[in-house]
Amino acid sequence: MERIQKVIANYGYCSRRKAEELLLKGQVRVNSEVIKELGYKVSSKDIIEVEGNIIENQEKEYILLNKPRGVITTTSDDKHRKTVIDLIPSGKRLYPVGRLDYDTTGLLLLTNDGELANLIMHPKNQVEKVYIAKIEGILTGEKIKKLEYGVVIDGIKTGRAKLKVRKIDKKNGTSIVELTIHEGRNHQVKKMFDAVGHAVLKLKRERISFLTLTGINSGEFRYLNPKEVKKLYNELLKSEE
Ligand code: URA
Repeated sequence: MERIQKVIANYGYCSRRKAEELLLKGQVRVNSEVIKELGYKVSSKDIIEVEGNIIENQEKEYILLNKPRGVITTTSDDKHRKTVIDLIPSGKRLYPVGRLDYDTTGLLLLTNDGELANLIMHPKNQVEKVYIAKIEGILTGEKIKKLEYGVVIDGIKTGRAKLKVRKIDKKNGTSIVELTIHEGRNHQVKKMFDAVGHAVLKLKRERISFLTLTGINSGEFRYLNPKEVKKLYNELLKSEE
């Protein structure tokens, strides 16, 4: 027996958080009965219906996409803008692990494996996310320390980060920096640089854990192989111990 929101996510319908929302909205039925209780336990014999669809366990799929600029990270958009789902095959219902802004490029994972998505997104698992940012101005040593020890954004201090300056363009007054963080708060990187008085001009996610964009051009994707999925699970579960 498992908690209903975990089963919905593991079956690949949506993220666990989204499943909780749907439960509270009365969009989930178990054996035809509406269930709103988040801790409700189900077994593999129960018939689960979400938003009118009966859901079943699906074969898991993992896609690594090099997201271009001008595409939104949702599964559908009411303004009919292009979404990351438009860039991948339409066979299985996959959803993005975390979010990249409309104007942010780079590495985005998409999967129907709710368990893995949840493990990657949870800050306690300390998964490294590496961003390359072009920022206005040149960071002082003091500001670098601040960013690394944590700055307050939306009233909450960010966790430990690592910052490396890759390049300084004195003529144009800009820098290219590499920031490694372990969380995935909304607009986190932009807000962190804002907090120390530097606007982000361009942003790209270059790495998540050991996964990089090597060989994948902008707008292209590849599937993760079983070895990579196993390695990801091993790393994530190791950090859970
Ligand atoms: N931080 C941001 O500010 N934007 C992103 O897209 C990702 C991280």
